[in-house]
Amino acid sequence: MKTSSHDDTLFENNIGEIKGQQGKYIIRVKKMTDCQGDAEVAKSPLELYEQLTAQGDEVRTLKTAKADKAEIDAAVQLLLKLKVGYKQMTGQDFKAGCPPSDNSVAPNNGPAAVDADDEDTVDPWNVSTSNAKGVDYDKLIVRFGSSKIDKELVDRIEKVLGQKPHRFLRRGIFFSHRDMQQVLDAYEKHKSFYLYTGRGPSSEAMHVGHLIPFIFTKWLQDVFDIPLVIQMTDDEKYLWKDLTLEDCHHFAVENAKDIIACGFDVNKTFIFSDLDYMGATPEFYRNVVKIQKHVTFNQVKGIFGFTDSDCIGKISFPAIQAAPSFSSSFPQIFKGRKDIQCLIPCAIDQDPYFRMTRDVAPRIGYPKPALLHSTFFPALQGAQTKMSASDANSSIFLTDTPKQLKNKVNKHAFSGGKDTVEEHRKYGGNPDIDVAFMYLTFFLEDDEQLEKIRQDYTSGALLTGELKKILIETLQPMIAQHQERRKQVTDEIVKQFMTPRPLNFNF
Ligand code: TYM
Repeated sequence: MKTSSHDDTLFENNIGEIKGQQGKYIIRVKKMTDCQGDAEVAKSPLELYEQLTAQGDEVRTLKTAKADKAEIDAAVQLLLKLKVGYKQMTGQDFKAGCPPSDNSVAPNNGPAAVDADDEDTVDPWNVSTSNAKGVDYDKLIVRFGSSKIDKELVDRIEKVLGQKPHRFLRRGIFFSHRDMQQVLDAYEKHKSFYLYTGRGPSSEAMHVGHLIPFIFTKWLQDVFDIPLVIQMTDDEKYLWKDLTLEDCHHFAVENAKDIIACGFDVNKTFIFSDLDYMGATPEFYRNVVKIQKHVTFNQVKGIFGFTDSDCIGKISFPAIQAAPSFSSSFPQIFKGRKDIQCLIPCAIDQDPYFRMTRDVAPRIGYPKPALLHSTFFPALQGAQTKMSASDANSSIFLTDTPKQLKNKVNKHAFSGGKDTVEEHRKYGGNPDIDVAFMYLTFFLEDDEQLEKIRQDYTSGALLTGELKKILIETLQPMIAQHQERRKQVTDEIVKQFMTPRPLNFNF
């Protein structure tokens, strides 16, 4: 990278040279249109994004330190100019915590620039939108740089598997992916791959939303017949929450029981607690260290929004969630092979971890993991946020009794119906914002029945109370059966799943 001692000549003659006020951030930027073929001068969107993140920090530091006004103004000016440069280079507005996506070297004023100010918040800790219909997932695909699971891909999955795709695929609940076509190519050529998913055990009770990736993962394991590893990030929860290490480890084991109750095959599944497995398997820790060496503090600050006052455990944690994406982290299963591709089903809130992982993978000689992303199972109060364990009233827990479930749905589930029966009959309800209807799209298997409910609710033939009753009658047996299966999961069975061992596959 070339440097310059001149200040503030950004974008003169399409070439900008910027020097940070403390001499820290010296860069040269060329306008997007002039960048092609001039690798020496052009910066990548990610570098510029990091520069912006650092400059934002500098402005905050100066303000906190009550620095000289002129110095603060100059730092702010520089920040604004960097933002202009970023937009010119990527076609997107800079947004702290949202790094440029894989394909963000977009034309100026690309689609992501539209409405940037009222963008939804989606990260591993927060999901929120002002839209009653929920997050705008099409926009999120553009922002995150993933690909839509379109009809063509669903049809291909059906063809490759020779069976009807899961309702989560048919209904767009798993809506986005990275490299799924590549996984299908591999499957058709009889090449091996494996599944990886996880859970952050922050309490004993999981909620229905947590089941979504696990239900889908179980289906994937059945149809592809491949190994599965499940990471229980008890270390993550210790770092983020006010819990003891013993609590977190205990929750990992308790949550593993709920996960096992989804029906996973013990011969094909390895579940591990980070607190146990990291120390027991040198190959896993070696991968963690490799990843740590290839990600800068600036990058994780940019991706996860860490600040200077976050503990260093949080800052290095993303490497631990990344490591299971690489087959060499599991020598017992893959016998040291480094080349087995991984497919990760999860809700899209976890994508920041795997954007980072995919960026690092080729630099440490491993294949990039592929991903399948789901939408969020909404909170009872409405699709403006996801169901979250930290708000008990927003959630239906897997431990709820039939009566608790009924009361929660009747009392809290946001309705798209009209205020009075007369109005509802006359104008009909709105299923797009109705939580009971949304929940049925996740759990009612019969497509025709679901469509009939949608039509009847929209026309006003079906009342809100009747719709909620259908939901209650769908969920009550589902949760009761889950509780019954969970009761059968003994400590001995958990131990089998959580013991590092070969699985029933030859590598
Ligand atoms: P955690 O425990 O927050 O969530 C576990 C899984 O559930 C998904 N999820 C949801 N899906 C649909 N609707 C919701 N309302 C909802 N809430 C949560 C999450 O996306 C996740 O897939 N750091 C992770 C644990 C982890 C992990 C992984 C997850 C470690 N490695 C690999 C996925 C893939 C966590 O705390 O997840």
